[in-house]
Amino acid sequence: MKKLWGGRFEGESQKWIDEFGASIEVDQVLAEEDIIGSLAHVKMLAKTSIILQEEADEIIRGLEILLVKAQKKELVFSIANEDIHLNIETLLHKEIGLVAGKLHTARSRNDQVATDMHLYLKRQVGEISGSLMDLEKVILLKAEKHVETIIPGYTHLQHAQPISFAHHLLAYYNMFKRDLERYQDSLKRIDCSPLGAAALAGTTFPIDRLDTAEQLGFSSVYSNSMDAVSDRDFILEFLSNSSILMVHLSRFCEEIILWTSHEYQFVSLTDAFSTGSSIMPQKKNPDMAELIRGKTGRVYGNLFSLLTVMKSLPLAYNKDLQEDKEGMFDTVKTVKDCLNVFAGMLDDMIVHEEKMSEATTKDFSNATELADYLASRGIPFREAHEIVGKLVLKCLKNGNYLQDISLADFQEAAPIIQEDVYSLLESRVAVERRNSLGGTGFVQIRTELEKAKKECQLN
Ligand code: ARG
Repeated sequence: MKKLWGGRFEGESQKWIDEFGASIEVDQVLAEEDIIGSLAHVKMLAKTSIILQEEADEIIRGLEILLVKAQKKELVFSIANEDIHLNIETLLHKEIGLVAGKLHTARSRNDQVATDMHLYLKRQVGEISGSLMDLEKVILLKAEKHVETIIPGYTHLQHAQPISFAHHLLAYYNMFKRDLERYQDSLKRIDCSPLGAAALAGTTFPIDRLDTAEQLGFSSVYSNSMDAVSDRDFILEFLSNSSILMVHLSRFCEEIILWTSHEYQFVSLTDAFSTGSSIMPQKKNPDMAELIRGKTGRVYGNLFSLLTVMKSLPLAYNKDLQEDKEGMFDTVKTVKDCLNVFAGMLDDMIVHEEKMSEATTKDFSNATELADYLASRGIPFREAHEIVGKLVLKCLKNGNYLQDISLADFQEAAPIIQEDVYSLLESRVAVERRNSLGGTGFVQIRTELEKAKKECQLN
């Protein structure tokens, strides 16, 4: 079959080589962006008198027919036409005849494909940002219900100090807030038009790049044509931002998985977000959380794959760049799915407040309270630490806890200790009193919650 670029070729193309070189199976996702980009280009070609208005009108008519078909997923593509750009041009030719050949004046597939991807990613980052905001709201509404729910705070996965469950949830809110900021910041670079860079060096035609950029809704244009066609930083940045987002989802999932286990029993997931076992009738597994944790791997993989493709690429366009799409599409789908499933799962998650707070009553997570008690009464903190350490050791030997120690025994260890120590050893009091800026104290959390709700337009 004759190629659109086939003039200087004599040999027949071979199907298996065509198949290897083709990207249509992957890049057909960009059909609408490709047509929209072409519409802007052809309108500009007429405005600048590079082609006649009648010619442009005919091309526009054809492209609009194709756009409707693309929206209905009715376009039929062929591997022989290699990629989305040549497929659309071929279809346009079938629709309107020879005049279709004028569309590619002052343009190359190199600036065309880059334009398509900028358009695509701009829309997708907008949609992902929307899902992130929905998730933030779910977290805040949950946190609001659990300001006074006490849960062990862990370091090294060992009970450290009691905290408010809302504080734990708000930690994730802050991570997702940063994720959203990163995506929004990346828009500055995504929202930039490469169209008009042509193959790599610009063009001799009097094109108007600012016009096409404006038509396509881009707020800036690449200022160097070589950079415009070979830059994939904006995709790397998207993949990197998405990887960091997946870190957060995966950490949260890991915690939920732990919390649903028999050992914790802090939360339950609803049936909709769980699955059973084909052999063990009692099982209810947190599969969705595990799957999100697992899918983090492919998102990291997509980042590493493109970083590796880009490494050592000489300027400007190289066919290697065709490998930039699959991972980007996969990441878009994965991130969207994970965000939506996770938000639903969290929204439905049942919190067992009793179990959470119970876990802070028979432990030593109030040891810092006792050390602070001594330190605030003049004993140097290091000394206080040593005294409490010894008391913990004694309790471990006796099989009891700090709050079970008699006042006489306390005073033997440190005469300064009075009856008032007991109330401070209660986990709820310990949480409430940690009122330093950004701490887990209820006043701090309520302030943070109010701030966050404003950020999310929740009040
Ligand atoms: N399918 C190609 C890609 O995705 C389009 C650009 C092709 N350009 C070229 N000079 N072969 O990168």
